[in-house]
Amino acid sequence: MKYMFDTANLNEIEKYMKIYPICGVTTNPSILKAEGKVGFYSHLKAMRKLIGNRSLHVQTISADAAAMVKEAEAIVNGVDRDVFIKIPTTEEGLMAMGQLKAMGIGVTATAVYSQVQGFMAIAAGADYVAPYCNRMENLDADPYEAIAAMRYMIEEEESSAQILAASFKNIGQVNRAFLSGAHTATVQPALLHSTFQMAAIHKAVDDFKADWVAVRGDVSLADLTE
Ligand code: G3P
Repeated sequence: MKYMFDTANLNEIEKYMKIYPICGVTTNPSILKAEGKVGFYSHLKAMRKLIGNRSLHVQTISADAAAMVKEAEAIVNGVDRDVFIKIPTTEEGLMAMGQLKAMGIGVTATAVYSQVQGFMAIAAGADYVAPYCNRMENLDADPYEAIAAMRYMIEEEESSAQILAASFKNIGQVNRAFLSGAHTATVQPALLHSTFQMAAIHKAVDDFKADWVAVRGDVSLADLTE
């Protein structure tokens, strides 16, 4: 069970990386749009500087395989060879995935809405496969059944692919994705943060503190002498 951040915001990454144990950061053109017209490569390099050797996932734009491969090469040349290239799981995308793997470039198969897309991406050798949980639910498709099926195939085929569940609007979806077999989930830091604002958590902490203070005053136990 590993978490990634689904954001390109440098401040958020820097702030929340200190709190949450993440293993990577994922982006797409819509996520980058939220940062305004920043320099593409300079921004990604700044992200890399912040996250160190955690994985960085960057998406191509073009629709055809040859252009996707060209963009992938530009990304690894412009950032570094450790970047995982997010390729939409279309027919052209599947062709590009095979070519990129042959070139030794890491691949994250994205925009996965169905089991067959996931199975094909696994067969094409993708390192990560990203089912879109909330978007699937919006279409009355079951992302958890799809995740369980993909995990079954990964184990059955002894594939090294990892399920990188994505597209979340609440933390229950993230938990269910893990319980269904996802290896990793990419989540907006703000969503994680909101789950830790639960009033009951803070009331419990405040109540414990009040009981301590009632007996000993506002003294840290680190300062006790007996
Ligand atoms: O990583 C991208 C994926 O998470 C899409 O998310 O929120 O646009 O459905 P969303």
